[in-house]
Amino acid sequence: MDLVLAGRAWVRGQALPCEVGVEEGRIARIAKSLTDAERAGAQVVRFRGLLLPGAVDAHVHLREPGFPQKETIRTGTLAALHGGVTTVLDMPNTQPPVTDRLAFRDKAERFAQDARVDWGLHALVDPDLRAFALGTEPVGYKLYLGPSTHVGGFPMDRLADALSGASLSGRPIVVHAEHPSVLREGRDHGNARPVQAEWGAIAALAERAPERITLLVAHCTTARGLKQAKEAGFAAEVSPHHVLLDDGALRDQGARAKVNPPLRGPKERAALWAAFAKGQATTLGSDHAPHTLEEKAAGVEKAPSGMPGVETMLPLMLAKVKARALPLGVLVRAACERPAELFGLPKGRIAPGYDADLVLVETSKVERIRAARLHSLCGWTCFEDWPAVFPQRVWLRGQEALADGEARDVRGQPARRTGKPS
Ligand code: DOR
Ligand code: ZN
Ligand code: ZN
Repeated sequence: MDLVLAGRAWVRGQALPCEVGVEEGRIARIAKSLTDAERAGAQVVRFRGLLLPGAVDAHVHLREPGFPQKETIRTGTLAALHGGVTTVLDMPNTQPPVTDRLAFRDKAERFAQDARVDWGLHALVDPDLRAFALGTEPVGYKLYLGPSTHVGGFPMDRLADALSGASLSGRPIVVHAEHPSVLREGRDHGNARPVQAEWGAIAALAERAPERITLLVAHCTTARGLKQAKEAGFAAEVSPHHVLLDDGALRDQGARAKVNPPLRGPKERAALWAAFAKGQATTLGSDHAPHTLEEKAAGVEKAPSGMPGVETMLPLMLAKVKARALPLGVLVRAACERPAELFGLPKGRIAPGYDADLVLVETSKVERIRAARLHSLCGWTCFEDWPAVFPQRVWLRGQEALADGEARDVRGQPARRTGKPS
C-alpha cells in the first residue's frame, strides 16, 4: 500500500473502526487491521474524527470561460476542495456555451490546467440537438426547459426528440425543470416562477421520456416535485438553498437570495426538508452559481439569479447531522454515493476499487460560516453565521490535497468512468 488511514470510517453505511489501504490512488483493502506486509512502506495516518467519502457535486457553474469576474475553475474547485467536494460536474451555460466539440475541448483544457478536484463536463442541449454529436464524451447533458441565466428556454415541440437523443447518447441528462408556459415574467420573482412551473415541467418530461433514459431533475423545490419525479422513474436532485432557506431570505438578503427556481414559502420549504431528511431526494447538488456583488446590487428585479454553494453544502449538512436533524447515511447517499452511481463514476464510497477521495471531519468542531474565509471568487454567501462542520483534511485519489485547512498543490483529473451510468 502507499497509504493507510487508520480510524473510524464510513463503510457500508456505518462508522467502523478500521484501516483503509490505498494503492495507486484507489482504495485497495479495508480491514479491522491490515497485515504488516500490507503496511510495509506505506505512509500510515492515524486519525481522530470520521473519514467520509468525498462528495460528488453534479451541479456547479464555474463560469469559465466567459465570466471570470464571477468565478474561475481554479477558485471554484478550491472552494469545492475546502468544502469536501472532491468531484465537480460543471454546467455548460458558459460563454461560449458548451454545445459543440470546440467549446467542449476548450473547457476540458482549462479544467486540465487549473482544476484542484476531479471533474466532468456537461454539454448543453440546444433546440438543434447538435450537442449529441459529442456522444459519451460529456459526463452528462443539460437541458433548460425554462429560460435562465445565460440560456434561453427550449421549445416544447422539440422535447421528445431531445429526450430520445439523450437516451441514445449513453449519458444521463440533467433537466432544469420549469415549464415555460407557466413562467410569468414581469411578476415578482417567486410568483413569476411558481411551483406549478416545476410540476408542469416534470409532467411534460414524464409524458415524453422514452423507456430507457437516465434523467435527473435538477434542484427540485417541492416535496411533490420529488414524488412526481420518482413516479416517472427519474432521479431528483435538491439543492442546499431550497431545503434550508425560504423566501424570507429574499426579504432579508435581497437579490443575493434570488435563484432559479426561486426559494419557496416556509411550509413548502419545511416539507422539502422533511422529504430530503427521509432520503427521498436522489441527490444533493449545490447548484453553485456565483455572481458578483456588483451584479447582485442591481436589485431583485434586475439582478441575475444564482448563489454560491459548493463550499458550504457539505459543512452545512454535517452541522445538521450533528444537530440530529439529518441522518448521516442519508447525507452520504445523496451527496456522495448516488451522484457517483448515476454518472457511472467509481467515487463516493469508501470501498475497494473506488477512488481514494476521502474527507476527514470532526463533528465536534462546529464553526460559523464567514464569507471572508470562503474561497469562491464572488466573496459572499447567503449562509453567513450558519453553523457548519468543515473538513480538516482531504485526500484526492490518495494524495493529501487539503491539510489543516490549507490547500496543497494537488491537481484534479477528469473523473474516470466505470460501467454504465445507472
Ligand atoms: O439560479 C440559477 N442560476 N439558476 C439557473 O438555472 C442558472 C444559474 C446560473 O447559471 O446563474
Ligand atoms: Zn437550473
Ligand atoms: Zn444550475
